[in-house]
Amino acid sequence: MSSHSDAIKFAYWVPNVSGGLVISNIEQRTGWDIDYNRKLAQIAEANGFDYALSQIRFTAGYGADNQHESVSFSHALLAATTTLKVIAAILPGPWNPALAAKQIATINHLTNGRVSVNVVSGWFRGEFAAIGELWLDHDERYRRSEEFIRALRGIWTEDSFTLKGDFYRFTNYSMKPKPIEPLPEIFQGGSSRAARDMASRVSDWYFTNGNTPEEIRKQVDDIRTKAKANGHKVRIGVNAFAIARESEQEARAVLDEIIAKANPEAVQGFADQVKNAGKASPEGEGNWAKSSLEDLVQYNDGFRSNLIGTPEHIAERILKLKDAGADLILLGFLHFQEEVEFFGKRVIPLVRELEAARDRELVAAE
Ligand SMILES: Cc1cc2nc3c(=O)[nH]c(=O)nc-3n(C[C@H](O)[C@H](O)[C@H](O)COP(=O)(O)O)c2cc1C
Repeated sequence: MSSHSDAIKFAYWVPNVSGGLVISNIEQRTGWDIDYNRKLAQIAEANGFDYALSQIRFTAGYGADNQHESVSFSHALLAATTTLKVIAAILPGPWNPALAAKQIATINHLTNGRVSVNVVSGWFRGEFAAIGELWLDHDERYRRSEEFIRALRGIWTEDSFTLKGDFYRFTNYSMKPKPIEPLPEIFQGGSSRAARDMASRVSDWYFTNGNTPEEIRKQVDDIRTKAKANGHKVRIGVNAFAIARESEQEARAVLDEIIAKANPEAVQGFADQVKNAGKASPEGEGNWAKSSLEDLVQYNDGFRSNLIGTPEHIAERILKLKDAGADLILLGFLHFQEEVEFFGKRVIPLVRELEAARDRELVAAE
């Protein structure tokens, strides 16, 4: 066993859509405008965050009444920072891989290789209808995403790239300039069998909804076993809604207030829509397949990861998620600027101490 584990990485959700990350009338001190977001990105990079993840949304959905486009918004955040990596969300369909590959390669040059992509596969049928996108079956959406990712990587790394796919076709395409190293990393979101199978073949990173360490471990074991058979390496990012406060009670009280002030009709509407995603996958194992209505108050089951409590408890729980196989924690907050700073100042240093103590134990045991 290695006496040194990689430091777990931290990302935050970019609030480029309005309304916050919980479907609740509790006060959420956040902003979807560029000034708020530039400052937030600067706070994040000064306080130990590695990545920011933007969202792609074309229509309002359960609170997200205004939505800024993810790739251009990501570029603005990269232009306002120096070390933060920004992950631009991309939805196959509205984007085709020729445009996405070129757009991201250019941003990669403009930002010294700090841009990555999150290829999302879609769950919001009403949104597809609104913008005239064909609605594919669950597993077909992943077949398309996989071809999309193969095309991106092929265009970025090969000359005379040729692909005769079911969704995309390229013939002797030599895109120039190629991205500079490091190549943009390719993330994906989703937890169904199709999502995990895709991760085990083509993605650099697999993002999943919040969950307990036990449930995360099951997904990780499945993906890593398959990835190994495919000769592929994939890393794991886990979503969490963090409520870090000086006392456990204070943090729990915030969660209780979020739930008490939840908007039941909007949560039910969201619950009905997400049946189009993981629940509709043939095996019924995807994101939201087992979510309760309380879980769904946070769009990506972020309460389930239980990063709610004092900085000490949260740091310990992050180590448990790391033990379960997480390489990155993706964080959402109620009051973004102030809580990203608090998390970076108070929680991340404790995580680094626990990681260092763990490494010393491993050395001693060798
Ligand atoms: C971390 C994360 C980020 C996501 N971001 C977006 C997004 O910006 N836009 C979107 O339409 N879907 C987004 N999704 C949804 C996924 O692409 C996918 O449609 C959904 O998780 C259902 O997948 P499943 O059926 O494989 O579980 C995201 C999912 C995760 C886990």
